[in-house]
Amino acid sequence: MTKKIDIVIAACAVLWATAGLHSTLRAQVAIADGVYTEEQARRGKALFTESCVECHGKDLNGMEDIVPPLTGENFLKTWRGRSVGDLFDQISKTMPVLDPGSLKPEQAADLAAYILSVSKYPAGTTDLASKLEALQSIKIETPKQ
Ligand code: HEC
Repeated sequence: MTKKIDIVIAACAVLWATAGLHSTLRAQVAIADGVYTEEQARRGKALFTESCVECHGKDLNGMEDIVPPLTGENFLKTWRGRSVGDLFDQISKTMPVLDPGSLKPEQAADLAAYILSVSKYPAGTTDLASKLEALQSIKIETPKQ
């Protein structure tokens, strides 16, 4: 009898430990913890002004029915639950519309950082990486305003 209880307790301990570890790993890449730097967002803004603003607009609101917004509720509708890696990948492969694939990975990361900054996701102390795999674990959630 005691043995059974021991096993149950041990199993619970293992579950609890794994759950704890899991949330620690997740916490390391939570978007709310600051996943880009202010300096990176500044670089992204300069690039955005050069290559993206004519379509997506100064406030990133896009053009109704033609160009999707890159901030606000409609942006979140498309992107919530997806990853910053997906955003980076989409920018890299499809933008700017007239010259897709022309951005260097670092530029696509800077642009993603700027897009996050406009939606008031907090800046942190490390640049957003310019590698898809590294960004895939950062989930896009509703920003805390
Ligand atoms: C000539 C106009 C134009 C330019 C310039 C342009 N875009 Fe776009 N962008 C669009 C259109 C149209 C779409 C929607 C169609 C598509 O996804 O291909 C879009 C879609 C996007 C999306 C996906 C949005 C979503 O919710 O689906 C992102 C992100 C994006 N653009 C970022 C950029 C960035 C960053 C630049 C600058 C490097 C840029 N765009 C330049 C017109 C443009």
